[in-house]
Amino acid sequence: MSAAQATTPLLAVRGVRAAYGKIEALKGVDVEINAGEIVALIGANGAGKSTLMMTIFGRPRARAGTIEYDGHDITGVPTHEIARLRIAQSPEGRRIFPRMSVAENLQMGADATECTEAEREAGLDRVFALFPRLKERVAQRGGTLSGGEQQMLAIGRALMSRPRLLMLDEPSLGLAPLIARQIFDAIRTLNRQDGLTVLIVEQNANHALKLAHRGYVMVNGLITLAGTGAELLQRPEIRAAYLEGGRRG
Ligand SMILES: Nc1ncnc2c1ncn2[C@@H]1O[C@H](COP(=O)(O)OP(=O)(O)OP(=O)(O)O)[C@@H](O)[C@H]1O
Ligand SMILES: [Mg+2]
Repeated sequence: MSAAQATTPLLAVRGVRAAYGKIEALKGVDVEINAGEIVALIGANGAGKSTLMMTIFGRPRARAGTIEYDGHDITGVPTHEIARLRIAQSPEGRRIFPRMSVAENLQMGADATECTEAEREAGLDRVFALFPRLKERVAQRGGTLSGGEQQMLAIGRALMSRPRLLMLDEPSLGLAPLIARQIFDAIRTLNRQDGLTVLIVEQNANHALKLAHRGYVMVNGLITLAGTGAELLQRPEIRAAYLEGGRRG
């Protein structure tokens, strides 16, 4: 592999704008994610974090700019085709299927991409090794799971599509600290052992920046700061806005 190939990011978002009607939520966003990285996106309520994640996934469509993934221009590509390129997301609020069993929810994830029976079995083994509670509750309806278990299921469902890039929107939201820690530990394990590339949106800036190799700060539809997780944790403006007296964790 040449040096140029080695530095080509897995995902490159360049000058992306997106809007809901007249409300411009992204005003020209640049974000890069290298293969094997965990990248955190932090920012206040309404900054546009979820919108960026959804725009990468094809909805809403980018009104300007480009999104490149693994050498493909995926700007404007429909969501189901993006999923086939092995990008998966666990959206804000989890959105599991409450009436379906844990097993059926996981199957929905497998159905997002073509996979062999052996790959599906391997996927289930991986998910159950990460989250043994899901194995114990495999026949239980999704809607009857605890909040933490539903988050595990949402991540498990995303993993069943065998992503190379996993995007997680606020995976620790509303969870007790111990459960949130289990979720962060699972993300770290997936990154270290499976080489999974992760984009994580978090209100828990402290945990997210400790977990991430690099981070971006979004304010009002624009990236205002970028750096390593450790650098960002030290920045006074980050500490003031997101760690001390802000949304702490
Ligand atoms: N479906 C929608 N229709 C109209 N406006 C929307 C919609 N979704 C988001 N917005 C607006 O777009 C802006 C960015 O919202 P977004 O949900 O991306 O922010 P966020 O950073 O994820 O916030 P939070 O931390 O609260 O989840 C906000 O002004 C929001 O009101
Ligand atoms: Mg959000």
